[in-house]
Formats: sequence, structure tokens, C-alpha cells
Amino acid sequence: MTANSEKRPDLPATPEEPTKTLTLPDPPGWKTRWSFEELSFSYKVRNRIGGLLFNTLVTHIPFHFIRRNYLKLFGATIGEGTTFLRGLQVFDIDLLNIGKNCSIGFRVLFDARSGIAIGDNVVIASDTQFIAGGHDPNHKDFPPVFAPLQVGDYAWVATRAMVLGGAHIGRGAVVGAAACVTRPVNDLEMVAGVPARVKSMRNPDALQYVPYYRPLFY
Ligand SMILES: CC(C)(COP(=O)(O)OP(=O)(O)OC[C@H]1O[C@@H](n2cnc3c(N)ncnc32)[C@H](O)[C@@H]1OP(=O)(O)O)[C@@H](O)C(=O)NCCC(=O)NCCS
Repeated sequence: MTANSEKRPDLPATPEEPTKTLTLPDPPGWKTRWSFEELSFSYKVRNRIGGLLFNTLVTHIPFHFIRRNYLKLFGATIGEGTTFLRGLQVFDIDLLNIGKNCSIGFRVLFDARSGIAIGDNVVIASDTQFIAGGHDPNHKDFPPVFAPLQVGDYAWVATRAMVLGGAHIGRGAVVGAAACVTRPVNDLEMVAGVPARVKSMRNPDALQYVPYYRPLFY
């Protein structure tokens, strides 16, 4: 999956908010959400039960194929060769899109309620969190704010980092341990700190590997 240059005007998150733009990956594309209003009751029930069972039970079973197939059954898009270690937590499984050969560490949180798209050959270390949305703290109704996020091919997000909605991670970018990413990170940038700032640039010739980490009973 690679980002294309097509910009899509998205719906405002709240009536007061200005229109946003988002760079979308190549087809088949990825699912995003910009409102909870259109969701049917049966969709919500299926989603809630699917997430509850995964997050409390299935994620701890030490057989990867069970976790992977369960996520696919509830609507996640997952490429070949991608693995998730135990303890993964997902909100809104159907809005999780992950490409090929990604390695996702222990206890990662994907809050995908407005959509998360991850490319190919991405490494996400343990205890990292991806939060695609939030609330408007200055609005009297404290409304939800929808902010999908995207991670480019060959990105490496290191241990305990947190990536906020809209803070897209570019192709081959590196996010240092414990960083909080609040703004988009460009291709090949190495960022670290809270808030994350550019520390250096990555060697583009390094982007040729296939991540592989498959411990027994992971
Ligand atoms: C991001 C990282 C790869 C950078 O490594 P590096 O290129 O060798 O960077 P350096 O050690 O040369 O540091 C460059 C600068 O960034 C700072 N820095 C590096 N990592 C940082 C971090 N996680 N948070 C804050 N600052 C950081 C350094 O202090 C240094 O600052 P200075 O120039 O003011 O002294 C590394 O620090 C890191 O976070 N590794 C993750 C380890 C991990 O999670 N392993 C499990 C993964 S599967």
C-alpha cells in the first residue's frame, strides 16, 4: 500500500469544524468513519460483541491464526505475512486495514473508530497506541472528533509510542520509543520526544527488508 496524491474533501467532524483533507492510499482503499449517526443497531451490536470478545479473550489465546482469522471475520483487512502478538486491543475491528508482512508487537492498541490504515513491511513495537479520534474539549456537547490515521510502508513505530489521529506516519519513517506523535511525519523522518520532533533522516536504501518475528506460541 502506498499513499497516492489524491486528496479527498472529508465531511466535517462537527458542524462547526472546517472541512479536512486526507491523503488516501491506493485502491482498494481503506474504510474511514466521520460520524456514528449512520450506524444501524445490528451493526453496533455485532461490532461491540466482536470487539469485546477479541479484547478480553481471543487476543490472549497463544495461537496467532485464531487471532488473525477472528479479526478478518469481523471485517479487518489483513495482508499475507502480517502477525500480531498477544494482547492486541482493537476498537472497531472492521476499520482496521493492515498490509503485508507487518509485525505488530505485544499489547498494541488500535483505536480504529474512525479508521486506521497501515502499509506493508511496517514494524510496530510493543505497548504502542494508535488513537484515531477524540473529542472537542471546547464544545458544549464534548462531541466526538473523527481523525483517521495512516502509517506508510516500512515505518517503524518503537516501544510505547503514541500516535494520534491525523498524525500520519510517512513511508519509512521512524517514531522513537515513548514519543507522542501529534502532527504528520514525513517519509523517512526519524522523530522522537513529546511532542515528537524530527531528529534525523533515515537511509532510503534500508527499505528492502521483510520484518519477521514469530516466537513459538506467540
Ligand atoms: C529512535 C531511535 C531509533 C533513534 O536512534 P538513533 O538514530 O541512534 O538516535 P540517537 O541515539 O543518535 O539520538 C539522536 C537524538 O535523538 C534523541 N532521541 C533518540 N531517541 C529518543 C527517544 N526515544 N526519545 C527522545 N529523544 C530521543 C537523542 O537523545 C539524541 O538527542 P541529542 O542529539 O539532543 O543528543 C531510538 O532512540 C529508539 O527509540 N529506539 C527504539 C527501541 C525500541 O523500541 N526497540 C524495540 C523495537 S521492536
